[in-house]
Amino acid sequence: MISGYPVRIAGTGRYIPEKVMTNFDFEKILDTSDEWIVTRTGIRKRHFAAEDEKCSDLAYKAGLAALEDAGIAASELDLIIVATDTPDTVCPCTASKVQGMLGAANAGTYDVLAGCTGSLTAMTTAIGGIASGIWKNVLVIGSEDFAGVLDWTDRSSCILFGDGAGAAVLSRSEEGKGHFIAAELKADGAKHALITIDKEEGREDPVLRMHGAEVFKFVNVHLPPFIKNFCEESGVEPSEIGFWVLHQANTRIIDSLFKRLGVPTERTLMNLENYGNTSAASLMVTLDEAMESGCIKSGEKVLFMAFGAGMTLGAMLYEA
Ligand code: COA
Repeated sequence: MISGYPVRIAGTGRYIPEKVMTNFDFEKILDTSDEWIVTRTGIRKRHFAAEDEKCSDLAYKAGLAALEDAGIAASELDLIIVATDTPDTVCPCTASKVQGMLGAANAGTYDVLAGCTGSLTAMTTAIGGIASGIWKNVLVIGSEDFAGVLDWTDRSSCILFGDGAGAAVLSRSEEGKGHFIAAELKADGAKHALITIDKEEGREDPVLRMHGAEVFKFVNVHLPPFIKNFCEESGVEPSEIGFWVLHQANTRIIDSLFKRLGVPTERTLMNLENYGNTSAASLMVTLDEAMESGCIKSGEKVLFMAFGAGMTLGAMLYEA
């Protein structure tokens, strides 16, 4: 359970690049079909960054939107964390580039690399730092630029992913204004080879590889008990959670999780069909869309969940 200064979500934002690629576009370049992709994943289209758009560009636009929503100046930020699997460069961190672009002169920076659990991991560390009094305002951004790391001939992986960025300003809260209650991170490092972005013989650039069926099995076995246990330790029943902000990887995974927990599917917002899996950006984009459409009511309990490469799992409980 989180103690110390209460921490709230002060503002959110997102940026989705213009270029769209539908399942029908994939039918033209791969042995696949819209019907297969929709039934097996729930995805209908995804967006990709333009040639001259990098992870930092997407992150900057989402970050700016979150600052505007929070009504704070970039100079008031103490820290910027960018969660990404596709940074502009290995060094320096993408968060430093974003700090420069935003003119956030008083903010420290670092990137988090934890697969699709990256932005939840970044939020967890931001909450810890604000609760303990180190920082007051932290900008957490999840941003992905997958186009360069996908193998466009591998139908089992390239149809799944998409680009985008989402952001949230986390701030020291006041009485009655929302606060994080609990957070937990887990990993099964022995399974690290299930999803990788790595160099390969015969290729100049690193490429994304995924053992899809094994990932699917891993998540279906480990996610429901992880969430059940997290709720139990946080003193809340899954049925008491008013809204679920979930990593968007596959509708079948969410359906099976909700079925096992006895939660009605109306308690979440799914946007997978529009964006595909945007990895570290997915949770933040979903949060922003949920806030914008008024899905999250004041006083309601909100559960955040993500899983991904590593194999990592994470959950957070918030009271809005
Ligand atoms: N179009 C048509 N057929 C495809 C295909 C595509 N895009 N991709 C794979 N197939 C084929 C396979 O080649 C296989 O054919 P075969 O039986 O002739 O060998 C068949 O479909 C079944 O493949 P399988 O991998 O068992 O399918 P699946 O039901 O497990 O679905 C995924 C594949 C990738 C959609 C699914 O495993 C999945 O979603 N896994 C989790 C991925 C994920 O969430 N990753 C991110 C984690 S953060």
